Amino acid sequence: MQASEAEKPRIVILISGNGSNMQAIAEAVQNQEIDAEIAGIISNRPQAEGLSKAQAMGLHTDIIDHTLYVSREEFDHALIRMIEDLKPDLVVLAGFMRILTADFTRYFEGNLLNIHPSLLPKYQGLNTHQRALDAGDNEHGVTVHFVTEELDGGPNAIQAVIPILDIDNAKALQQRIQIQEHIIYPIAVKWFCEGRLNMNGQLAFLDGQELPTSGIQLHS
Ligand code: GRF
Repeated sequence: MQASEAEKPRIVILISGNGSNMQAIAEAVQNQEIDAEIAGIISNRPQAEGLSKAQAMGLHTDIIDHTLYVSREEFDHALIRMIEDLKPDLVVLAGFMRILTADFTRYFEGNLLNIHPSLLPKYQGLNTHQRALDAGDNEHGVTVHFVTEELDGGPNAIQAVIPILDIDNAKALQQRIQIQEHIIYPIAVKWFCEGRLNMNGQLAFLDGQELPTSGIQLHS
């Protein structure tokens, strides 16, 4: 039986900028590829381009400007309250450019996903495309993972792997990676909303099977 609207898992998406991953997930929900409800989009930047995209899709949006808070802790506690008001089952970080406190990550642990443009555990942090090029890697990619206290360190759910070409630069890699982001993030969210993907004891499971360190890998 199809779950009624009230029973659908509620997703809150946090953004800071362009919001293309938010859009990919919200479109998958609107197209009924994901049986869920977008409870709201929250941006810490009032000017984030993603906000107008969300509004154009008819989604609820909230702004919480981090510059108005005296400390990271105060901001994170206000953010927790704002998210809780939307009664989420899943919180999705989609280009949310804030380092989160342990209070925040512990609060939502197991229900908090992030996307990071590298084949984690490789290249945590910034400038991932250039670092992969500088290292002479022949593969690069993007990872959806559960968020824990360790920055870019929680268990992986899914990765897209692409070859690095001789002619590649950071910009070209970023563009090809972003295409993959819009494929794998909706997949991970769908798995979670179907109850297939979960985190337990710092490990990720799909259909009850412990996932390898890489998560499920899609190669292109
Ligand atoms: C993506 O490249 C993602 O990997 C990184 O931030 C970027 C967000 O892009 N975490 P967008 O705002 O979803 O377009």
